[in-house]
Amino acid sequence: MAAPARARGASFLEDAKNATTEWLRKAFELDGYVAGQEILIAVYLALRLEKPILIEGAPGVGKTEIAKVLARIFGTDLIRLQCYEGLDESKALYEWDYQKQLLHIQLLREAGCIPEESELFSEDYLLERPLLKAIRAERRPVLLIDEVDKCDPEFEAFLFEVLSDFTVSVPELGTIRARQIPIVVLTSNNERELSDGLRRRCVYLFIEYPSVEKELRIVRSRVPEASDKLARDVACVVARVRTMDLRKQPSIAETLDWTRALLALGVEKVNDQLLAETATMLLKNRDDVLALREAAAGGRWVTEALEACEPGRPHQAGKTRRPPRP
Ligand SMILES: Nc1ncnc2c1ncn2[C@@H]1O[C@H](COP(=O)(O)OP(=O)(O)O)[C@@H](O)[C@H]1O
Ligand SMILES: [Mg+2]
Repeated sequence: MAAPARARGASFLEDAKNATTEWLRKAFELDGYVAGQEILIAVYLALRLEKPILIEGAPGVGKTEIAKVLARIFGTDLIRLQCYEGLDESKALYEWDYQKQLLHIQLLREAGCIPEESELFSEDYLLERPLLKAIRAERRPVLLIDEVDKCDPEFEAFLFEVLSDFTVSVPELGTIRARQIPIVVLTSNNERELSDGLRRRCVYLFIEYPSVEKELRIVRSRVPEASDKLARDVACVVARVRTMDLRKQPSIAETLDWTRALLALGVEKVNDQLLAETATMLLKNRDDVLALREAAAGGRWVTEALEACEPGRPHQAGKTRRPPRP
């Protein structure tokens, strides 16, 4: 089997079904994505069994990125369907280009002709939307159905049908069957409970906030300019921030933003004053920022976070971790 490669055009795996967990581990690592065994096994099974993978977790924990990584490591297209309330078949599957059709009718009329219906409802006037694009793709693409919990239950039912057989019927063109089943990644922020049917069809993966150790590896991978000391400070402080009673805990995206902000400010090690000054890079809610500033006002909050920090210990969301007594 070809070794995973970083650059496009290099030796990609011919068939995603041949990817072993070890191949995936190396490929994810080369791409800078830190993935534990749980993620690798779920991705492996989805590829092997040709099932969609449904990834749930809080915003910013790395769900969407998995689809992007898969497209990159297999050197294939990423086709993205962003879900939202009111999304319907015409925006997800296909629609007819009415303006172009009207223009065509007008031109024919001016020339004294009557347009044929079959002429107007042909390939030339078809606007492919993500699902049809994925079904008709030449090369097996990655189809990302992002934030599926945002769509309406009716659309979810339609999606379930499409994902069942990857066959769609366009009355004017006939039945279109996928040449190969796309690699499908569905993500959900858990804002709405998804149907059992959809869940059953998928390989399920839940991504938690990372442990200190994992977050440290992510910071090192994504912000290699940061020193080991700074990366460690960041991971430890963020872990303690996540134990606070906040409206919205900082995600990995915010950890990375904060690290880059600290670098931009020329910071080499974190202290309480810096944390208070840069808290808005980490927290995006006024009450949360004020709570963190108040916590840091004592002057020992960061020190305690670093003293209590043990990379390797799993993060315990929502539980207050008491720092050791001096
Ligand atoms: N395990 C990881 N390894 C490397 N980078 C990660 C990891 N998890 C998340 N990230 C980074 O965090 C950011 C947010 O990830 P994203 O996939 O957009 O989150 P989500 O879709 O869960 O809201 C991205 O910049 C992504 O690259
Ligand atoms: Mg996302």
